[in-house]
Amino acid sequence: MTTPTLGPTLGLTDAAVTTATVDALVVGTMSGTEGPQLLPGSEEVEAAFDGALTGLLALLGARGKVDEVIKIPTRGAISAPLLVATGLGAVKGQPTSEQVRRAAGAASRALSGTSHAITTLSRIDLAAAVEGTVLGSYAFTSYRSHSNQAQKNDKPLGQMDLSVPAADDGGARQSLARALAIVESVTAARDLVNTPPNDLYPASFADRAVTMARSAGLHTEVLDEQALRREGYGGILGVGGGSSRPPRLVRLHYAPAEPRAKVALIGKGVTFDTGGISIKPAAKMEEMTMDMAGAAAVIVTAVLAARLELPVEVIATVPMAENMPSATAYRPGDVLTMYGGTTVEVLNTDAEGRLILADALVRAAQDAPDYLIDAATLTGAQVVALGNRTPGIMGTPQFRDRVTAISQEVGENGWAMPLPEHLRSDLDSKLADIANVASHRWGGMLAAGVFLSEFVPDDIPWAHLDIAGPAYNAGSPWGYTGKGGTGVPVRTLAAVLADIAERG
Ligand code: BES
Ligand code: MN
Ligand code: ZN
Repeated sequence: MTTPTLGPTLGLTDAAVTTATVDALVVGTMSGTEGPQLLPGSEEVEAAFDGALTGLLALLGARGKVDEVIKIPTRGAISAPLLVATGLGAVKGQPTSEQVRRAAGAASRALSGTSHAITTLSRIDLAAAVEGTVLGSYAFTSYRSHSNQAQKNDKPLGQMDLSVPAADDGGARQSLARALAIVESVTAARDLVNTPPNDLYPASFADRAVTMARSAGLHTEVLDEQALRREGYGGILGVGGGSSRPPRLVRLHYAPAEPRAKVALIGKGVTFDTGGISIKPAAKMEEMTMDMAGAAAVIVTAVLAARLELPVEVIATVPMAENMPSATAYRPGDVLTMYGGTTVEVLNTDAEGRLILADALVRAAQDAPDYLIDAATLTGAQVVALGNRTPGIMGTPQFRDRVTAISQEVGENGWAMPLPEHLRSDLDSKLADIANVASHRWGGMLAAGVFLSEFVPDDIPWAHLDIAGPAYNAGSPWGYTGKGGTGVPVRTLAAVLADIAERG
């Protein structure tokens, strides 16, 4: 079950799209004041329809809206038997990369089962067209048995040709290769998130991380339960203590020759979160298989940094544990001694992410990184505050805002959130240094961030990404996001590393 999910074959082409031997041609539409309009750059397609294409689309109800996909049989107007018009919404000036990415994703989903298509979206933004196409056609089928009819139904698009002015152009080839590396990482993160918790548990997750990292030449280190005990990782051991499958701490190290900076990545790796003794309700508990999405993201990002040979040293520190109720589970009322010595009173065993992250943050800071970034499906309060598509980004204000701006640029759309100092006293414990939850639920996302900040040295720029909602799509597919793991925040982390490589 470890075969990665492969996307469609992609190729650059500068041949005419109207005469290409393909099953479908994808063009973009945008919403104008009087119905849909074809995106600039596909004029020859309109001409091949004798100027009637936009009118036909309007007749079929097209408005050029986001996530709108209209299919027309071409009846010989062009060589492809099917034309697929995918909406970008209202376009002011140039379309944004995210508009192209989403439209490419929606088209790609609508083309599942098709062998071979060609698109003109790549003429507007090649990288975005590649990303949208591959991510939109993603389907996690490892657990479909071969006899199952459903496997045929989620067969993805086979091949997409990307129309560009010159197929042998070095710049185009480079952006294709870079976009492919990024989406492979996003896909790998989705695969990890979608793997069910009976197969993905701390030891097996650690094995997979090590295999991926070694193949890219990273140094790896795995602390098992004995090593964790020897070194005093009380948070990870406490949370993992209720499971028959013991916890791990994985460390992945990418060390290029002349790094511009050193970045520590930390990701929450709770392979299943029952809540522990403070057990969760049964409804939707199965979704807590995604509680390792932060871990998956930082693992694939460290590997990606090596693949792209970024001049940035990256050390991923990834705590992995299964949060289970049992006779050996930690309890409300327990006091844990974290790595580094801080004591924490556990008032709720379901606030487990911050406990394993605290250990990991302290360990990561020992490496004296220039930047510290953590990603975690940390709080239901994040989903209440910002919904399913908007990560909450906290941390030291300047670096938080830099990461937020980059998250916006790549279309993951994180939003900056404060860490109000007054929330700290809500975490005062009657017997330990700090409690893991407040006595009320207000500002729960911020309170979790304030708890983490206690374990981050004041002089290290830090960003904390709460991705509880955006990491997993339990609803309908949209744009390039199908059901299940989304791969958020891999593209943000990758772009932050690239930005640090460039600007320090
Ligand atoms: N893994 C959950 C957070 C979560 C909720 C992720 C919904 C994805 C979707 C986390 O461990 C948790 O249980 N948090 C508690 C904290 C509370 C006890 C302070 C929560 O948000 O309810
Ligand atoms: Mn929990
Ligand atoms: Zn959790």
